[in-house]
Amino acid sequence: MARAPRNKTIQILHAEESSLRDGLQKVTERVGEIEPLLDKTIHGDCTHVLPLLPDGFADLIVVDPPYNIDKRFKQVRFRSMSDDAYEQWLEGWMGELCAKLKPTGSIYVCCDWKSSCAVSRVLSRHVTILNRITWQREKGRGAKSNWKNSMEDIWFGVRTPEQYYFDLDSVKQKRRVLAPYKTDDTPRGWQQTEGGKFRLTCPSNFWDDITVPYWSMPENTEHPTQKPEKLVAKLILASCPEGGVVLDPFVGSGTSSVVARKLGRRYVGIELDEHYCLVAEKRLQRALEDRSIQGYSGGVFWERNTMLEQKRVCRKK
Ligand SMILES: C[S@@+](CC[C@H](N)C(=O)[O-])C[C@H]1O[C@@H](n2cnc3c(N)ncnc32)[C@H](O)[C@@H]1O
Repeated sequence: MARAPRNKTIQILHAEESSLRDGLQKVTERVGEIEPLLDKTIHGDCTHVLPLLPDGFADLIVVDPPYNIDKRFKQVRFRSMSDDAYEQWLEGWMGELCAKLKPTGSIYVCCDWKSSCAVSRVLSRHVTILNRITWQREKGRGAKSNWKNSMEDIWFGVRTPEQYYFDLDSVKQKRRVLAPYKTDDTPRGWQQTEGGKFRLTCPSNFWDDITVPYWSMPENTEHPTQKPEKLVAKLILASCPEGGVVLDPFVGSGTSSVVARKLGRRYVGIELDEHYCLVAEKRLQRALEDRSIQGYSGGVFWERNTMLEQKRVCRKK
């Protein structure tokens, strides 16, 4: 079927499968040093792969596991289970995963309302939890006799609360000033630019400025639960120094690895479904030429729609 001209969804052509497959890694025995696996996508089950990797190499771990719902990925199917069974499933790999953190490292775990309690209980056994981010993701199916599910939690934990890495300045948000206040004709904490009056603000733990990837966005893939690059960019900029290593054990379409590459970090991604490994590889190749991240420009995160407006003003001049 012909695609709409504006449809930018990344697809894998049969002709490119073999060369993309060549870039994948298999890990079947214990690895002494992480170096040969840096900037690689490992095709495998993370519960088998993690015990084979060395400890203490990751500055940041981004975890987006299957939530406790029935979900069909390409070849992988996840079946919902009781809350207790899901907690046990998380416990089965969380300790091994947290051992991969450097002493200064951080971990973020994504979940929905249903799995959030289990995630926080399990995570708190292995790291110190410092916060929970709520992401209002807008998109979500309406229910006939329930509230539409349109938010997710992202739990933030660190290995050592006294010495973890966190770069607040890199994740400040550029917001339009509603009541520009001046003393002696000098703006108080805001700047006048060509596009309007803006203030750089500290990011909170409520994120409502990030859209789920959709068909006309260049980052979009056929993965059913792909995370937005802008969301992962915030995590990486705040919690991984330049040149540091990002580990994602459920990397799916490769978002964490792609954003790590775009922002000058190293990465290790693990994914069970081969098709998504190939999608990740294709996105990673594109990231070598195009490092742009929608919603992040000039070193700042822009409030929704303000970046476009700013561009329009500059174009008119
Ligand atoms: C919620 S999705 C992650 C989506 C990803 N954040 C992205 O932006 O594309 C979870 C992924 O975990 C994969 N998966 C499920 N069980 C796995 C396992 N045991 N080891 C590795 N990957 C697994 C699924 O195939 C799926 O792609």
